[in-house]
Amino acid sequence: MVSAQPVGGQPAHARPEQGRKPFRRADWWSLYAQVLAVNAAILLAWVSVLLWTPVTVSAPITVDQALLIGVMLVVTVAANAVLLRLSFRGLAALVSQMETSDLLRPRERLPQKGGVETRALISRFNEMLDRLEAERLASTRMNLSTLEAERRRISRELHDEIGQRMTGILLQLGRIGHEVPEAAQAQIAGARDEVRAALDGVATLAWQIRPGVLDDFGLLSALRSLTASLADNGHARIDASLPHQLPPLPGETELAIYRIAQESLTNALRHSGATIINVAMRVAPTRVVLQIVDNGLGLPGGGREGAGLRGMRERALLTGGEFSVEGITPQGLRIELTVPTGGLRA
Ligand SMILES: Nc1ncnc2c1ncn2[C@@H]1O[C@H](COP(=O)(O)OP(=O)(O)OP(=O)(O)O)[C@@H](O)[C@H]1O
Ligand SMILES: [Mg+2]
Repeated sequence: MVSAQPVGGQPAHARPEQGRKPFRRADWWSLYAQVLAVNAAILLAWVSVLLWTPVTVSAPITVDQALLIGVMLVVTVAANAVLLRLSFRGLAALVSQMETSDLLRPRERLPQKGGVETRALISRFNEMLDRLEAERLASTRMNLSTLEAERRRISRELHDEIGQRMTGILLQLGRIGHEVPEAAQAQIAGARDEVRAALDGVATLAWQIRPGVLDDFGLLSALRSLTASLADNGHARIDASLPHQLPPLPGETELAIYRIAQESLTNALRHSGATIINVAMRVAPTRVVLQIVDNGLGLPGGGREGAGLRGMRERALLTGGEFSVEGITPQGLRIELTVPTGGLRA
């Protein structure tokens, strides 16, 4: 499950220096200093033993002397091993986090463990993720708003410009039809049917690009109209269970919910072979939950995520909500979006 964590106040990348101690290699508690201190202490102890006690090491070596050297060696290696192990604690988790990080699936940040260097590394990596996620969110927001503005413009152009002109042609053909000899009337009628079909095509295209009902009548009407039109054209039954009313949601969130429902339904119809698709929306005190469940094949094993699924994740992030795609038993796919009704990510 993806959890988009709210980034409150000033974006992380705007204040990278705040609240953290700058890292210095010569820190007295750095690994460098610790290894130096421990090895110097062991060496000092060993030299002191040789200088100020009756213990001597000389060739040929005795069993006692060999044992003593062995003990010193074991102590040195063990002290270094403990030191390095403690210091590098947390590195393995960091490497695995680096390998699996995905900006579209924000995760809990790693706790800082280990020595000064490892803690500094984890802390800088966490800051870098904050910054990258904030930047990605900002660029996604900008790209999607440009895309939607362009879609709205094209849809309006199709409807108002091309649609109106074709309606004009239809009317003209109607008038001409009364004036031409009877032999030509059948041809005129055929031409009118063609223009009417093209007009329907243009209207459908304009609706698919940007349904006016979303802007004019809101999300619930747009979802009803979406499920009804896909049910008419698809091979699966679509059951929609929508609430009578929604809490006020930002326009960007409404659009995200609509586009996620649209992509999920299109995917279910195109890829799943489902016979039943359920679209359910629930309103809870602090959130709105959208679920699209189909009884189809489910995601193929090791399946790739295309632009559709990634686009859904991007839009979900913008809502500050949680998004999940899960296979269900005995078969099918569940897509769930939970949107907090408290507001958008900054
Ligand atoms: N409901 C579903 N049931 C079964 N498989 C699915 C379902 N939704 C998606 N998939 C699988 O996941 C793949 C990726 O879906 P995604 O929407 O990201 O891309 P796409 O639909 O193939 O292309 P695009 O959406 O970019 O036109 C699909 O090709 C399909 O194999
Ligand atoms: Mg798709």
